[in-house]
Amino acid sequence: MRRLSLDGLSRRFGAVQALDAVSFGVEAGTVHALMGENGAGKSTLIRILSGLDRPGAGTVAVDGAPLPPGDPAAVQSAGIRVLHQELHVVPALSVAENMHLALPVPRRLGLVDWRRLNAAAAAALERLGLSRIAPAAPMGDLGPGDQMLVRIAATLIRPEGAAAPWLYVLDEPTAALTGAEAERLFAVLDELTGAGAGVLYVSHRMDEVMRLASRVTVLRDGAHVSTRPMADTSDARIIEEMTGRALSDLFPPRAGAAPGPVALSCAGLSAGPLRDAALEVRAGEILGLAGLAGSGRGALLRALMGALPRQAGTVRVGGRALGPGTAAAWAAGLAYVPRERRSEGLMMRRPVAENVALPHLTALARGRVFLDHARQRRLAESQGRDVALKAASVAQAVGDLSGGNQQKTLFARALAGAPRVLLLDEPTRGVDVGAKFDLYRLIRRLAGGGTAVILASSDLPEVLGLADRICVLRAGRLAQTVENDGLSEADLLTLCYGRDAA
Ligand SMILES: Nc1ncnc2c1ncn2[C@@H]1O[C@H](COP(=O)(O)OP(=O)(O)OP(=O)(O)O)[C@@H](O)[C@H]1O
Ligand SMILES: [Mg+2]
Repeated sequence: MRRLSLDGLSRRFGAVQALDAVSFGVEAGTVHALMGENGAGKSTLIRILSGLDRPGAGTVAVDGAPLPPGDPAAVQSAGIRVLHQELHVVPALSVAENMHLALPVPRRLGLVDWRRLNAAAAAALERLGLSRIAPAAPMGDLGPGDQMLVRIAATLIRPEGAAAPWLYVLDEPTAALTGAEAERLFAVLDELTGAGAGVLYVSHRMDEVMRLASRVTVLRDGAHVSTRPMADTSDARIIEEMTGRALSDLFPPRAGAAPGPVALSCAGLSAGPLRDAALEVRAGEILGLAGLAGSGRGALLRALMGALPRQAGTVRVGGRALGPGTAAAWAAGLAYVPRERRSEGLMMRRPVAENVALPHLTALARGRVFLDHARQRRLAESQGRDVALKAASVAQAVGDLSGGNQQKTLFARALAGAPRVLLLDEPTRGVDVGAKFDLYRLIRRLAGGGTAVILASSDLPEVLGLADRICVLRAGRLAQTVENDGLSEADLLTLCYGRDAA
């Protein structure tokens, strides 16, 4: 049986001990889950085992033979394929070229063999049921979900002459996928493990892990907590090991206070796929937006925020008509946590402090010509504490934070202006259970303090756990609004699919 052994892996970034003498083994033929809260060190471990980064100490070995550190090519020749969590794609290159970024390119007479390159890409895409994606299309033309699928497909390419990979390492492959796309991936994983390959699988989705994995390793604060057969553990125990505390209830109770006056309303709103939407949300209320992918959930939020141009209709905040554009929206007391951290939200190379302060610069400058950096830093520090942000300092580049802490940076930004209305689009995507709990408590606390919240999410338990009322969108229309009172997940899904409640 082929085996990957990690032995005493350590890695430090400045003051942060990202990995602390972590040892465990992964065997062929099964799915081995790797779990841990945001910042636990999962991606750091994967970057080291893939050769993208070097450990401060420790070794990675295949079948007892140590691999040279920091050598991705050696890892590939040892039969290991890796999908990293956040790696740039090159939008100007074709899908097929992007799929070969980390692989030897097929050549003929010293030149790139485009025919074979495209054929290899097409075959890998086909395996994931993606024949609709053309290998020659520019990567930049694809949406984020499709880009992720292409990157997953790339791990399935087997360069000519190379041995078949025996281990696939996937860091949060389903974070940007729809349910159907994830199912397709799971079918391929079944095929791969059925053929004897192993999978090291990072996901925050407990249901996926329970279903796919036969072993699970938990990391906490860079340290190895446990490696157990799935049969000897439970979701409750995994959560406890990840967080160091028992999670009796993920969703804090509702305050039960009567909602205040209407904070935001819209009428006849059309924008992008959205048609003729009307809704209102009151101070202290959490309004959920549910609907299938493409139903217009996200578009509605972006239209309210002015990030998507409004073709018709009006938006009122506190009774006053809202002008176009995001600057007007922030100034009127709206705040927005976007779905796409990378493209819509964060400046990855800039420090946390700047990212938090970005929409608030006018207010921070207070008539001064130059930006007050100390004030910007203090703002980021206090907002960071509020959302339990884990960063070495607010001077750290956002791109160096773990995914969940990047998400918390967006929350810190949204809350910095003490918003009247908070718009959340998939606020806990890629966020671990512990951080989810923190964010849920924060959302509740804000609503308790009189903020109106609109929450769009594909995570039905999240909508059901938080919202007071739920608007269901179908094909760009607000189909129905229901009180969240004894509604089950199945009820809500039925509404999303288009059968009206009796
Ligand atoms: N290049 C870097 N520079 C500085 N600190 C880093 C760097 N990469 C990671 N870290 C820090 O190391 C710790 C572990 O991060 P890592 O990305 O491995 O977490 P993770 O378990 O993958 O989390 P997530 O679930 O959010 O993706 C974090 O505290 C992070 O801020
Ligand atoms: Mg990670």
